[in-house]
Amino acid sequence: MRVSIIGVGKIGYAILKGLKSLNVEIIGTGRSEETLDKIKKEGVEATRDNEYAIKKSDIIILAVKPQHFHSILDKVSKTAWEGKKVVSVMAGIRISTLTRLTNAKVYRAMPNINAVIGKATTALAEERDEEVERIFRTIGNVYWIPEELFDAWTAIIGSGPAFVAEIIDAFALGAVACGMSRELAYQAILDMVEGTVYTLRKDKTHPVLLRDQVTTPAGTTIRGLMVMESEGIKSAIIKTIEAAYQRSMAIGKEIDKMY
Ligand SMILES: NC(=O)c1ccc[n+]([C@@H]2O[C@H](COP(=O)([O-])OP(=O)(O)OC[C@H]3O[C@@H](n4cnc5c(N)ncnc54)[C@H](OP(=O)(O)O)[C@@H]3O)[C@@H](O)[C@H]2O)c1
Repeated sequence: MRVSIIGVGKIGYAILKGLKSLNVEIIGTGRSEETLDKIKKEGVEATRDNEYAIKKSDIIILAVKPQHFHSILDKVSKTAWEGKKVVSVMAGIRISTLTRLTNAKVYRAMPNINAVIGKATTALAEERDEEVERIFRTIGNVYWIPEELFDAWTAIIGSGPAFVAEIIDAFALGAVACGMSRELAYQAILDMVEGTVYTLRKDKTHPVLLRDQVTTPAGTTIRGLMVMESEGIKSAIIKTIEAAYQRSMAIGKEIDKMY
């Protein structure tokens, strides 16, 4: 089986690295000399010729920015896509649009930046396909979801690492406020977050149950929780995700007009 990655940028490169663990031939494409060199250094065939890569492959992963997809469509003949499986990681372009433009069998994937370390959380739409799933398992966990949930996924799982990083930074600032060095605090906070996630996963504990286990009467945690409550932290996070979701839908509409 041969897989081509059209646009080996941040996400394309993470997928390329993952794919190397499978027994498949890979072709990577890019525009700049720098990108082509990066692909070659992985021992993978590199080319600027997208039509060549598409024609030679069984599965094509589209990993350019959505607004750059035009530049590929314009230079690739419609027949090149025939009989191929196309998996788009491009945000905002619908399966129906890509099917109309390519006539190929189209899937959508939405990984997140954790793909870079093989810890992505990837949504796939829509019809289950073992080969597609196998490819994305090389960069982390995979969930098959209906395409209409992609905007929600983008807001929660795509933007999520940034939101979590922001919360962790707030913890570190809190530690500094209490006289702890940032370096010590940061490492300890990461351990604490990791341990908390592990606990929640291991016993499938509901977050509220874990919170109540930590919250002793008249103790320290309840005092902190009272501040979280009065500052509206939960509501702020819900609104954060809702705002990202609305923006993802708006971008999708803008991109829709381009194609
Ligand atoms: N970054 C994320 O966390 C993330 C998560 C989920 C989905 N996505 C989606 O993944 C896609 C790529 O995002 P990214 O962050 O990886 O962007 P990126 O780093 O800018 O990568 C895009 C790549 O596309 C290449 N490219 C552009 N036009 C091309 C053409 N005509 N032929 C061949 N290659 C071309 C560029 O090559 P040159 O460098 O040589 O110009 C660049 O390496 C986007 O559609 C985005 O929505 C990204």
